[in-house]
Amino acid sequence: MEEERANIAREIHDELGQIMAAVRMNVAWIQRECPDRKGIVEKSSEILELIDGTIRSMRRICTELRPDVLDHLGLGAAIQWQAEEFTRRSGIPCEVTAEDGIQVDSDRSIALFRIFQEALTNVMRHAGATKVEASLRHEGGKVILEISDNGKGITKEDISKPGSFGLLGMRERVYPWNGMVTIKGNPDRGTAIEAILTDE
Ligand SMILES: Nc1ncnc2c1ncn2[C@@H]1O[C@H](COP(=O)(O)OP(=O)(O)O)[C@@H](O)[C@H]1O
Ligand SMILES: [Mg+2]
Repeated sequence: MEEERANIAREIHDELGQIMAAVRMNVAWIQRECPDRKGIVEKSSEILELIDGTIRSMRRICTELRPDVLDHLGLGAAIQWQAEEFTRRSGIPCEVTAEDGIQVDSDRSIALFRIFQEALTNVMRHAGATKVEASLRHEGGKVILEISDNGKGITKEDISKPGSFGLLGMRERVYPWNGMVTIKGNPDRGTAIEAILTDE
């Protein structure tokens, strides 16, 4: 699953990235070499902007598919990055508190990062929240990730209903490390999710 995502990210990056670069060069050539008839310069500037937007969005998709920030900067920074991305798209502020220099290995990092992504997607889709808070810390041999929002609050039925694959996925992700995901909802006060796993 994670490997498949990494493959897709690589293909988007390598293949589509190359094509977009070639398209960009060609449009830039037209802009440079063609006499400015019928607004050709303006039109090609618009096309260049569209291409640049596409390249940016490809980069974002790749990072979400295979967050290489995880490998380079670590889990705390990756979570911070994802929170900013979330705020940019949803308009909902998300405040992250991550313990300084927290060390989490690559498999655990991926698991917690995916839980964070799913929790934020849920906030965007279901919560009606105006604020999100997240924290990452180390405590007595455990790594703890908490995400809470101030929305309508998840119900007991939602938590246990058979179709809640997103929540089920969170739980499954922490199994390998004797982990646990606790989900709490408070009507009109919000939802809190806590994922805990052992660090060795
Ligand atoms: N932050 C939240 N606030 C309110 N309700 C939530 C929240 N997160 C999840 N839910 C509820 O729990 C259900 C199950 O979530 P999930 O398993 O992720 O499924 P999905 O997001 O595909 O609907 C959602 O359909 C929604 O009703
Ligand atoms: Mg979901």
